[in-house]
Amino acid sequence: TVLATVVVALDGPSGSGKSSTARGVASRLGLRYLDTGAQFRAITWWMLQHEVDVHDAAAVAARADEAVLASGTDPQAPTITVDGTDVATAIRQADVTGAVSPVSAVPEVRARLLADQRALIGEGGIVVEGRDIGSVVAPDAQVKVYLTADPAARAVRRAAEEGGSDVEATRASLLSRDTIDSGRATAPLTMPDGAVHIDTTDFTLDEVIDQVVALVGAVEAPA
Ligand code: DC
Repeated sequence: TVLATVVVALDGPSGSGKSSTARGVASRLGLRYLDTGAQFRAITWWMLQHEVDVHDAAAVAARADEAVLASGTDPQAPTITVDGTDVATAIRQADVTGAVSPVSAVPEVRARLLADQRALIGEGGIVVEGRDIGSVVAPDAQVKVYLTADPAARAVRRAAEEGGSDVEATRASLLSRDTIDSGRATAPLTMPDGAVHIDTTDFTLDEVIDQVVALVGAVEAPA
């Protein structure tokens, strides 16, 4: 079946509902799941551990290949390790969140992760979430979705995910990351050609999952 080889590319800004949607779609359809934001966060965690100045692009570039990442692709229990250490919790902390955008803007970091991502995607059967999946990582993906939501809704969701962070501070942090992620020279956040735009502000998670599952169904059984 088409499902064995399908690639579902889910892009959008922070807090648009990408992770929950991607995991939900992958769980329902029995597909693997890859969170590329977690990979950028894991590299960033490694840079902080090794006291690399994350605002010095040359310093980050020089060490971009050193960390060994492993991503577990079960949507019910995704995992990520760096040099064998489980970093799933550490990569969600404020220090990593505050440093991930400049690290993600370094071309050598993106090139290295692009190779990792394409190896994991392999023959397909996977839902991949990020900022440049439909545009750069998997431009041939059969299903491309671009998720957005009002900044206020995104801040409320992300603050809740973070266990009750201050909503206004969360809003400022995500808008600042949006600006850097959309403005960078290499693979900026953008709506890919051929993507279906879903504004999730007024939908429940299940409704958004239903819409994406329907798009995959349309690929499986073309009208
Ligand atoms: O989705 P997230 O908030 O965990 O992503 C963290 C950062 O990683 C985000 O600010 C931009 C970067 N990122 C990226 O540049 N490209 C991707 N494909 C995924 C994430």
